[in-house]
Amino acid sequence: MAYYHWILAFHVMSFVSWMAMLFYLPRLFIYHRENADTKAFTDIVEVQEYKLFKYIGVPAMWATVISGGTMLYLNTGIFSSGGWMHAKLLALVFLLAYHFSLNAIRNTMLTNPHYKSSKWFRFYNEVPTLLMIFIVIMVVVKPF
Ligand code: HEM
Repeated sequence: MAYYHWILAFHVMSFVSWMAMLFYLPRLFIYHRENADTKAFTDIVEVQEYKLFKYIGVPAMWATVISGGTMLYLNTGIFSSGGWMHAKLLALVFLLAYHFSLNAIRNTMLTNPHYKSSKWFRFYNEVPTLLMIFIVIMVVVKPF
């Protein structure tokens, strides 16, 4: 347990990086969709989407999951201290599904830049915000 707080500090750095990708990639999809007929623009934004997801999103997601999982392994008493971690893990299932959905959308927009609408992406962009608010309240306030 002596290094538990080092893992927790790494966990906080990891999920901040992961959330940065989850917040910003849908923004790129909005610009991509709004400039779908400008190939010079879509060629550049496709590279940005790829690098943001592969080089920041994926490593940060794994670092968050592994650091969180390690803390669960080291501190199993968490599950008997109320339902807050169960509720957090349920929200994390949706956050992970959202993560993989962004990669599926990214791949679709490579061949179909007119996929969905920029309004749809603006709404979809709010999902990780709502999940993050719920997750942080669960783990910091531990309401139940
Ligand atoms: C599968 C992924 C994750 C797992 C297994 C996990 C698990 C954990 C565990 C076991 C703790 C320590 C709790 C304690 O000792 O009280 C923790 C702390 C925390 N987690 Fe996660 N977590 C995950 C993802 C996330 C994500 C995505 C966020 C943010 C959106 C997040 C936010 C936090 C916060 C704010 C803390 C508390 C930090 C503190 O007490 O200073 N976690 N997490």
